Amino acid sequence: MVYDIIKLYYLKEYSFLLFGVILLKLSSFAYLAKYGVKTVLGMQKTPILGTVILTDKCNLHCKHCSVNNLTAVVHPYRQIINEMKQLYIMGVRILFFCGGETFMWQSEGKTLRDLVIEAKQMGFLIVNTVTNGTFPIDLPEADLILLSLDGDKPRHNAIRGDTYDKIIQNVNNATYDNICFYMAINKINKSAVKSVCALAKKMKNVRAVSFNFHTPYPDTKELALTKMEKAKCCKDILEMMKKGAPVFNLKSAFPYLINNSFPTPCKQCVVMENGKLSVCGRCIHEKGLCEKCGYFFVAEYTLLFGGNIKMIAEMLMTYLKYI
Ligand SMILES: C[S@@+](CC[C@H](N)C(=O)[O-])C[C@H]1O[C@@H](n2cnc3c(N)ncnc32)[C@H](O)[C@@H]1O
Ligand code: SF4
Ligand code: SF4
Repeated sequence: MVYDIIKLYYLKEYSFLLFGVILLKLSSFAYLAKYGVKTVLGMQKTPILGTVILTDKCNLHCKHCSVNNLTAVVHPYRQIINEMKQLYIMGVRILFFCGGETFMWQSEGKTLRDLVIEAKQMGFLIVNTVTNGTFPIDLPEADLILLSLDGDKPRHNAIRGDTYDKIIQNVNNATYDNICFYMAINKINKSAVKSVCALAKKMKNVRAVSFNFHTPYPDTKELALTKMEKAKCCKDILEMMKKGAPVFNLKSAFPYLINNSFPTPCKQCVVMENGKLSVCGRCIHEKGLCEKCGYFFVAEYTLLFGGNIKMIAEMLMTYLKYI
């Protein structure tokens, strides 16, 4: 939103167009605010945030990841469109594309960009994608591109192979400034939180950085952080926020994330993978994992829709700033 207003100021020749964009964003905001109020009051039970898994195929094999290349099937275009329609009918208005690697998805001559455009035409209010950033980035229609950067070069590469330089090159060459770094913090990269914040502040195509703590699937449980390590990471994030780093998370959720004391799962979130709908995440099928959940969005959404006033106020400010 703030970005739109700044652009409106500098690009007066496009003022009509940009004014239209701002009106559109305000109407989306009004819709989401109404949903929030009705949910908090218990009058609304439908989900608002949905994720479609395009494929689990991936060009990387990151150390912390348990969901890549299990089938390596690329789901067909018609199936994905039907899944998007299903989510829309259920009430979902914030759509994420995820994988595997989303930029590897191609079907019937269609690409990820076609899916983002069609999602907007279908009526989704916010359309985001998650990517490992190793492919060229030309996706101006997405509201946010969550691009995984797991630390400074040595730590990122220790987790994700020798990809750091390529990713930074792709971010620099991206055609729009809608990138948000996405960092999963674990035992390997826990001391690189500040450097990712600093880089997000510095790079012109990067709007913000968003964090998660490692969620310990059985095969990666050695990467989980202790309570003390999580507290130190939150301290680092807060310090960087005070210095002006653009962090797309809600600091009121930090104590709950450190103690894993937030409610799970998130009933306002759903995931669709190959026709199978799951509440909250694919990980809901892993026994005992929700108690150890590290996903910040789960804490933020469950506390928000549970009526936590501080969280509501912070969410309003954060969304207006970065989307
Ligand atoms: C599964 S990946 C799919 C999209 C894309 N391939 C990527 O890496 O961004 C989505 C996000 O989940 C994160 N992730 C994977 N395993 C995780 C885990 N066990 N706990 C927390 N985040 C995890 C990744 O770091 C990435 O940011
Ligand atoms: S790039 Fe994403 S999907 Fe691929 S292995 Fe890494 S985290 Fe998993
Ligand atoms: S609460 Fe459970 S289902 Fe939801 S993201 Fe966390 S581990 Fe996955």
